[in-house]
Amino acid sequence: MNKKIKRIGVFTSGGDAPGMNAAIRAVVRTASYYGIEVYGIKEGYQGMIDNDFIELNSRSVANIIQNGGTMLKTARCKEFFTPEGRSIAANNLRHRHIDGLVCIGGNGSYTGALKLFEEHKIPTIGLPGTIDNDLFGTDFTIGYDTAINTAVNAIDKIRDTAGSHNRVFLVEVMGRDSGFIALAVGISGGAEAIFIPEENSEMAKLIDHFKNHSRRTKSFSIIVVAEGDKQGGALAIQQKLEQEFSDINVRTTILGHIQRGGSPSARDRVLASHLGYEAVRALQNGEVSKAVGIVGGEVVLTDFDVAISKSKNVNPELIKMAEILAN
Ligand code: F6P
Repeated sequence: MNKKIKRIGVFTSGGDAPGMNAAIRAVVRTASYYGIEVYGIKEGYQGMIDNDFIELNSRSVANIIQNGGTMLKTARCKEFFTPEGRSIAANNLRHRHIDGLVCIGGNGSYTGALKLFEEHKIPTIGLPGTIDNDLFGTDFTIGYDTAINTAVNAIDKIRDTAGSHNRVFLVEVMGRDSGFIALAVGISGGAEAIFIPEENSEMAKLIDHFKNHSRRTKSFSIIVVAEGDKQGGALAIQQKLEQEFSDINVRTTILGHIQRGGSPSARDRVLASHLGYEAVRALQNGEVSKAVGIVGGEVVLTDFDVAISKSKNVNPELIKMAEILAN
C-alpha cells in the first residue's frame, strides 16, 4: 500500500448528476477513516485555478446524501484545457500539499485529469458522474437511475392526459450523444417508439407503423425521443408527423433539466457511495489516471485514456425488444 497520500482534493466537474453529493460524502468519510485530509475544490477545475478550496471533514458532509446537485458546485472550465491553466492549478494544489485527487465527472473531466498527471504528476482517480450513462468502464453512471425514474414518473402523468384526449405525445429526454436514457425510459414508460442518436430508421418505421397498424387499434401513443436523435429532436418529429397525417393530434413535452435534479434514488446513493470508497482506496494503492466503475457486479479500474476513447453501446437486443413490446 502506498502510504504517501496524506491529503487529497475532491471535486465535481461537467454536468451535475444526482448522487454526486453521496460520492463526495463517501470520499471524505473514507479518507477521514484512513487519516487522510480532504479539501473540496469548488466548481471543478475552475476552483483549482481560482484557488477556491474548502477543508472538509466527516461532519461537513453530514445530511447531504439525500440531496441532488453538488455541494461543491460544478463547471465546464475552458482555461484548464490550456497548459497555462493547468500550471496554475498544479501550483495551487502543490501549495496546499494535495497529493491526490478524486474527480467526479465524465470524459471531459477525465481528459483534464490525464493531462494534469502527464504534466505535473498529480494523480487522479475518476468517478463516473453523468445522467447519460454513456461512459465506458462501468455498467451504470452516478445519476442515471434517478434521471430515468424522474422521466418515467413524468411519462406516467403524460399518459393520463394523452389517453383522455386520444393524442400522440412526444416526450424528449436528455442524451445528446447516446440513447441510454431514452431506451430505458421508453421501455419502462411503455412507449410505442423510441428515437435514439444511435439509430436512423425510426422515423420511417413510425410512419409505416401509424399507417398500417397502431392508430387503427390504439387510441393514444407515447413516443420517447433522445434530444440528440438524428431527426433533430421531438419538435422536428412532431412537424414531420403533422405533414404526413393531416388528422393527427400531437403534443410535445421536453423534460430537459428536470432530469438532472432531485433527490438521488437508493440505487444511485449506493453506487456513488461504493465508487467514492473505492476511489480513495485506489489512490492509497498508488493507482493513477484511472476511472472506477462496476461491471457485472465487480469493481473495475479503467485507464482514463481507455475510458475516454472507447464508447459504451446501448444493447441492440433491447432496441429490438422495445419494438416487439410496442405492438
Ligand atoms: O451530459 C449530461 C447532459 O445532461 C446531456 O444529456 C445534455 O445534453 C447536457 O448535459 C446539457 O448540458 P447543459 O446543462 O450544459 O445544458
